[in-house]
Amino acid sequence: MTDAVLVTGAFGLVGSSTVKRLSADGRQVVATDLDVPAHRKAAQQLPPGVEVRYADLTDPIEVDALIQGIAPAAIIHLAAVIPPFIYSRKSLAEKVNVGATASLLAAAEKLPKPPRFVQASSIAVYGARNPHTHPDPLTADTPLNPADVYGAHKAAAEKLVRASPLDWVILRLGGVLTVDPAAYMKLDNLYFEGLLPVDGRLQTVDVRDVARAFAAATTADAVGETLLIGGDDTHRLIQGDVAPAMAAAMGLVGGLPTGLKGDPNDDAAWFNTDWMDTSRAQEVLRHQHHSWPEMLIETANKAGARRHLLRVAAPLTKAIFTRRAAYFGRTEPYADPWGAIAAKWADPRPEEASQ
Ligand SMILES: NC(=O)c1ccc[n+]([C@@H]2O[C@H](COP(=O)([O-])OP(=O)(O)OC[C@H]3O[C@@H](n4cnc5c(N)ncnc54)[C@H](O)[C@@H]3O)[C@@H](O)[C@H]2O)c1
Repeated sequence: MTDAVLVTGAFGLVGSSTVKRLSADGRQVVATDLDVPAHRKAAQQLPPGVEVRYADLTDPIEVDALIQGIAPAAIIHLAAVIPPFIYSRKSLAEKVNVGATASLLAAAEKLPKPPRFVQASSIAVYGARNPHTHPDPLTADTPLNPADVYGAHKAAAEKLVRASPLDWVILRLGGVLTVDPAAYMKLDNLYFEGLLPVDGRLQTVDVRDVARAFAAATTADAVGETLLIGGDDTHRLIQGDVAPAMAAAMGLVGGLPTGLKGDPNDDAAWFNTDWMDTSRAQEVLRHQHHSWPEMLIETANKAGARRHLLRVAAPLTKAIFTRRAAYFGRTEPYADPWGAIAAKWADPRPEEASQ
């Protein structure tokens, strides 16, 4: 047994920030992820002292060797296949999102001193959220009702964690954002955000605060708890405001098209997001350090001189994104997020529902 914290998915959005946080806190960190060139390159930028072990977590033998070799004091399990890419890779995603969780738990349970297991889950477990019929924010006790394969995988992984004899903590994350402008420029992500109902509710959170939450959850007095990780109340946003505000902070003022509202009379035609009651999580993890307005200011500062170029380009990007948007040329009054996901990627429903 070591004092090490093992972080899976360590080169992903949340993983990179979590590794940095743990390292800055003076913790011994082992980072694990797939052995691909981009991760080898990113590994060169890791804080000194962070150890890297490459492994494919869909292989139970590799998982066993990893866990027995490190014997960590805690595991932060972040590795996953997430939206929108999950929709066209359901079978691989199931192996990562559910199968790898099972393998990690089984390997960890065999250690002489079993580690604490901190599981990354998502508010996708609650399914579609029509704000007109669900006025209250989500709590840990809101019934689970996954609408898509992602929510179903996360609910299945949570069930495995709860059934395990390990000390566990489950963190259900809201919409994770970063002040690094480059992260917003992926076309698939912009297309995806553009198809979601503009008046859907979303509670965002700065990735650095998510990292704080995961680091704190390895030691906090929260064993056996399911905690909702969102930013403070300034992060209670409306879907259609988020990408345009971030883009505007980077200089792209008015550079994104406006999508469609959700259908107030169709509970199923909304996406997996809502506002959250984060009070218990904040009480035990003290993770909320970056408000939404502060994130926008920091994004603008980081964009620096590029803001002027992007400002000039805004009318052009709006024209391009308008033509590429999911509902371009369509006459329906309301957004159809699941239909638009199926048209672009694949049927988003969980395996059993789509057969
Ligand atoms: N980003 C969000 O808004 C958000 C919201 C809710 C929940 N979450 C959850 O938080 C966690 C981290 O999300 P993220 O945004 O950092 O995702 P990400 O896609 O940026 O990172 C996931 C990481 O998992 C790794 N991975 C995938 N398959 C693997 C395999 N077979 N073996 C080993 N590693 C593998 C990837 O290489 C990647 O580095 C995930 O569990 C996700 O479901 C994220």
